[in-house]
Amino acid sequence: MEPRTFSLRYRPQNFEELFDQEHVKRTLTNAIQHNRLVHAYLFAGPRGVGKTTTARILAKSLNCVEGPTVHPCDKCSTCLEIKASKSLDVLEIDGASNRGIDQIRELRENVRYRPTSGHYRIYIIDEVHMLTTEAFNALLKTLEEPPRHVIFIFATTEPHKVPATILSRCQRFDFKRIAPDVIAKRLEMIIEKENLDVSEDAVRLIADIADGGLRDAESVLEQITTFKQGRVTAEDVTELLGIVPYERFSHLLKLVGEKDEAGLLAFLEQTFAAGYDVAEFYFGMVGFLRALLFTSLDMRVERSSFPENVLKRAKEYRPKELARMLERFLKSEEAFKRSREKVIFIETMALSLLDMGEKQPVSKESSRSTKTSTSPQTSRPKAQKSPLQQNHAGVLNTGEGPASIPEEGPSKQASENDTKKVEGEMREVEESVQSVPLKQVWKRFIKETETEESFVTLALQASEIIETRNNLLTIGINNNPELNIGRLKAEQSHLEERLSRLAGQKMRLEFKATKPMKKESRGPKSKPRSAVEDVLDIFKGDIVR
Ligand SMILES: Nc1ncnc2c1ncn2[C@@H]1O[C@H](COP(=O)(O)OP(=O)(O)OP(=O)(O)O)[C@@H](O)[C@H]1O
Ligand SMILES: [Mg+2]
Ligand SMILES: [Zn+2]
Repeated sequence: MEPRTFSLRYRPQNFEELFDQEHVKRTLTNAIQHNRLVHAYLFAGPRGVGKTTTARILAKSLNCVEGPTVHPCDKCSTCLEIKASKSLDVLEIDGASNRGIDQIRELRENVRYRPTSGHYRIYIIDEVHMLTTEAFNALLKTLEEPPRHVIFIFATTEPHKVPATILSRCQRFDFKRIAPDVIAKRLEMIIEKENLDVSEDAVRLIADIADGGLRDAESVLEQITTFKQGRVTAEDVTELLGIVPYERFSHLLKLVGEKDEAGLLAFLEQTFAAGYDVAEFYFGMVGFLRALLFTSLDMRVERSSFPENVLKRAKEYRPKELARMLERFLKSEEAFKRSREKVIFIETMALSLLDMGEKQPVSKESSRSTKTSTSPQTSRPKAQKSPLQQNHAGVLNTGEGPASIPEEGPSKQASENDTKKVEGEMREVEESVQSVPLKQVWKRFIKETETEESFVTLALQASEIIETRNNLLTIGINNNPELNIGRLKAEQSHLEERLSRLAGQKMRLEFKATKPMKKESRGPKSKPRSAVEDVLDIFKGDIVR
């Protein structure tokens, strides 16, 4: 009987059928051909990329009546038994459910027996990192002096949890995530064999969201073709998986570009009311920004389920702007995951993008500063500030420093003076005994909030103590003050309580809007950095061309 699921029905039966993982294939086939086998292999890598499949192919290659061979016949009884998981010489053990010492002791007794029909007794231990310490120790004894006829193949998604003593006795193979292109190719193969009707876009989208896991891609394909009669489109995939359509991301960016605060909040509210998952949205946004960034740098985008015409719009943005937006999302990822207020988190995050002048689309900035062409496609002006802005900032701003476009108008000037005054007063107060420890208390306070309410953390990002007076702490909020001060006030009593606990005395908090922090702006002499430098910073040299 044919296996029901695609992934089992189309499980590769030999090295040729295995997609990708070229280095694994090459090394293993060489070892088989030149009889340079070792007693223990470790297959490490993410889920569904071919570890168990390769282990079985290796087992077949070794035990086939024609073996050891890189072309197992797939006809002999040994091959057929292995394929059906019935071979007495190939034992698959699930490390997750056989984690204990007893099971490993049994295995140790077992390894002494000679193979019944094949050349080797092969133990495939899946999820080997799940074994208990005692089990590992017992296993180690066997690994130290393995009988000649025994080969271990350990598979794991978490190699860092496997003890070094075990690792050092294995030949390790790292299985990689599979590229979307390759996944798409494999899906096409299944589609053809199954005689299915799936649009190219849909295939691309499935390949894209599988995040390198072939099994996942195959099961999505299977699910969707089971439920949908007739042609399957990208919309079907989007709907079935609750994926946020890319239009939402590009609309969000549009609103950011237009500095439409109210529109942004309304749009986000509507999006989540429509049932889209908040986390999907967050990580989808990361993927979208990344794709735009790469396109804007004329680099190849591997995750390219976004249509060409959408990606082309990347040219409306300066790469640096995209990089900074992306950076912001990436940096807050952990905080986002921990946050219990994910919607508010995204709202705050989106609004914080508005705050930063250099994160504007080129079209926006150019019309603000130089009144030249308004066509985003044709104009990519250097980041030059108008004379007004230069005077205002007091230095020639190269446009490379963050938070460099101050809001125009006298009110801003006034608030700057205010801050100066406050700063003066603060220095006085700092001389008093209390202020120094209070600063430390504040630091600890920030640290503590970082592990919990992340929207508080976000609001307090780039905040600073501007005044300490007795038990009153005045905090300057630089990050989108209109919104964040409101939010902090809503939490005020809770925050004060906590601060009091840390300070060991009753504390009160006050929040004030401040100008952008000084340390963030660069002087006139700072050398402008190239966009690529910025990008490399963010990706820490990880860019794969
Ligand atoms: N490299 C690959 N080439 C072709 N098909 C693959 C590949 N990797 C995975 N598949 C498909 O996914 C299915 C599952 O693969 P396999 O069981 O080998 O994954 P795995 O790496 O062991 O995953 P897990 O860590 O979840 O056990 C296979 O039956 C096959 O259909
Ligand atoms: Mg497996
Ligand atoms: Zn055979």
